[in-house]
Amino acid sequence: MPLPDSFLQELKSRCDITDVVSSYVTLKRRGRNYIGLCPFHNEKTPSFNIYPENGSFYCFGCNVGGDVITFIRRIENLDYMEAVRLLAQRAGLTVPENAVDDSMANLRRRVLEVNRETARFYHTVLLSPQGKAGLDYFTRRGLSPSTIRHFGLGFAPEGRFELVNHLKKKGFSKEEMVQANVAFLSRNGYPVDRFTARAMFPIIDLRGNVVAFGGRILTNEKPKYINTSDTPVYHKSSGLFAMNFAKNENSDTLILAEGYMDVIALHQAGFRTAIASLGTALTAEQARIIARYAKEAIICYDSDEAGQKAASRAIPILRQAGLNVRVMTVPGNKDPDEFMRTYGKDGPARFKALIESSGNDVDYRLTKIRARCNLNTPDGRVQYVTQAAELLAGMDNPIEREVYASRLAEEIGIDKSAVLAQASKAARRSAKRVREQQFREQTREMSGANDPVNKEKQKHLRAANAEETILAYLFCHPDGADFCRERLKPEDFVTNFNRRVYHAVLSKMLYSASVSLADFSGELTQDEISAVARILARYSEIPPTREDAAACIRVIRAASGRPDSESARSADPQELSKYIESLRNQKK
Ligand code: GTP
Ligand code: MN
Repeated sequence: MPLPDSFLQELKSRCDITDVVSSYVTLKRRGRNYIGLCPFHNEKTPSFNIYPENGSFYCFGCNVGGDVITFIRRIENLDYMEAVRLLAQRAGLTVPENAVDDSMANLRRRVLEVNRETARFYHTVLLSPQGKAGLDYFTRRGLSPSTIRHFGLGFAPEGRFELVNHLKKKGFSKEEMVQANVAFLSRNGYPVDRFTARAMFPIIDLRGNVVAFGGRILTNEKPKYINTSDTPVYHKSSGLFAMNFAKNENSDTLILAEGYMDVIALHQAGFRTAIASLGTALTAEQARIIARYAKEAIICYDSDEAGQKAASRAIPILRQAGLNVRVMTVPGNKDPDEFMRTYGKDGPARFKALIESSGNDVDYRLTKIRARCNLNTPDGRVQYVTQAAELLAGMDNPIEREVYASRLAEEIGIDKSAVLAQASKAARRSAKRVREQQFREQTREMSGANDPVNKEKQKHLRAANAEETILAYLFCHPDGADFCRERLKPEDFVTNFNRRVYHAVLSKMLYSASVSLADFSGELTQDEISAVARILARYSEIPPTREDAAACIRVIRAASGRPDSESARSADPQELSKYIESLRNQKK
């Protein structure tokens, strides 16, 4: 059952999208709207827009948009009802729970229960005779019994049905096991254990729920690790191993390592702020979570080439999230886990010294660039300054840029102004690249090519654009609802998606004086909400007038083969397409 409309209206009026978003994103006013750096992708120039008038947001960089509820869903990784609850709590409202269809929330609850029971099972097995191989393995790798208990490590036994039989006894259905990704269905439809004969690492979220597992094989076979894929309670792109422990240290600095074993070895050695992004390259979402708890991240990846590449990629992502970044190098091609085992009881002190001597990210990158250039030749020095200037160009802080320009100038023996000039040139070049990229994407989007939601748009481009103008018109001018209703029926719409939205908007307007995007987030999917937000964003600078609407109505009716007598006379398709064209050009 949907939520009562009165409740949604109240929620919407108390959760202003600008207020809500500004607790996640720094916003700047621009005219009637606000703009900021998009929290959903990495960017240097803001393309994330807030439109308070219709309660929507839209990012022109990554094409994500929606209403305040969608925003919370995306940024907090929640489903619809959970996002509503979070907003209600923030606004001091009580959600009328009996009215709610909670099937998704129920599924998530069950999946979490499967995970907890599974973690318990693997841990119990580890400490039983059946888990000897696993316990031997962890012990051989230097983990103490208390570390094993602290991390809830476990062992997935050899058999193919050990876990599923256990879970069945505990009352879980095979669907729930499969949803939790701890089992898969055989061809005959019975569940089979996903992890067998593996050392198990449970991944625990910030609320203390077991959300996923990593399983390591005990031999040198491949794949070395099997990890939980995305489930209703877990998104790889936002998971951070040991963050549940690290956050309790209330430290300004977190250590970002690569693997489970590294993190565990570091914690055992007393470095309880160590975390890892799991097997995937660090994402912006993970960086944002880190930035919520710390001011600085120390990257401590493997010193092999792959690790160093991963570090170079992680630096801008962490910086973008507003973190200070330092990079430490563990000498001798070791990962932190091997380091601790090599140095035994001296390990912690030595590691602490390494942390203290770790340079900031700029020094780290300059060192990398310097190593590639031969500074004894003029060519090499030019190459060095040119590449270093690109690094400087990416700095948002002018003081930082000055400091490094001075240092470079001195190092190479040239004028600081030359370094800075080179940096500005690089900055202009990269800004141009970004603009060209955005232009290409917008052009593509206007043509309806690959529109993920309105599949019919490309085929009926003109009608679809006119339909979108009508939708934008309604959001900007709720008093125009009757005007449209009398002249244009949902059946007249050519594309199905726009027809559905039109129908929904008109119905809403029968008993509500104004509409905002939040009115629809219960009935549209996230992608569909994004699509509507994109339409609103595109017309936000130049809202359609009633004349525009009238012209579009004629186009739509003509396209659907139902021209009215008046429009048949005055319809001038060329004029309209010119008009729509001009809207686009102004927008650019
Ligand atoms: P050990 O070899 O046991 O020391 O593991 P490690 O934790 O040091 O792993 P490594 O540095 O090789 O890899 C870092 C992380 O990448 C691991 O902790 C896993 O999360 C992930 N990873 C490594 N190998 C695989 C693999 O084969 N498949 C997947 N999906 N992830 C992997
Ligand atoms: Mn390792």
